[in-house]
Amino acid sequence: MADVERTFVMVKPDGVQRGLVGEVVSRFEERGLKLVGGTFMRIDDDLAGEHYAEHVDEPFFEELTDFITSGPVFAMVWEGADAVAQVRRMMGETDPAESAPGTIRGDLGLDLGRNVVHGSDTEPGSAEREIELFFDDDELLEYERIDETWLYE
Ligand code: RTP
Ligand code: MG
Repeated sequence: MADVERTFVMVKPDGVQRGLVGEVVSRFEERGLKLVGGTFMRIDDDLAGEHYAEHVDEPFFEELTDFITSGPVFAMVWEGADAVAQVRRMMGETDPAESAPGTIRGDLGLDLGRNVVHGSDTEPGSAEREIELFFDDDELLEYERIDETWLYE
């Protein structure tokens, strides 16, 4: 089995406004990933800048931080085998218009700037950095899902 990892996921303001929190959560739950942390919150300018620091020099940076601070988000940590890459595969491409049907963005979005969900990228350290930005250690829960012995060989 691949290494068990944790990854940071967020339903963005468009997903919250469109009533898609449950849909997004369901997809990860049904896949077998384990929810270990979650918070419904509004991101402030400082946190938006830190979260998207890698894009600070991009022409779309201001639009991006304006959007991500424009309404509540549902921030989560999901755990499971190869979780970082599996979540990225389930999300689809950055642009929903390029995303395959069956992916979250390919099923639920149409526009690059309204792509419903964020998930940590697969660069080493990205997931850990984002988890630490949004959660304290004691907000991440360790427990066994009752179906774990059936999910993993
Ligand atoms: P995210 O970080 O939000 O999960 O998305 P991602 O990894 O798939 O894409 P990333 O390259 O990190 O870009 C962050 C967000 O910026 C917006 N974007 N706009 N106008 C543009 O060319 C452009 N490129 C990216 C997208 O909303 C993307 O989710
Ligand atoms: Mg990204």
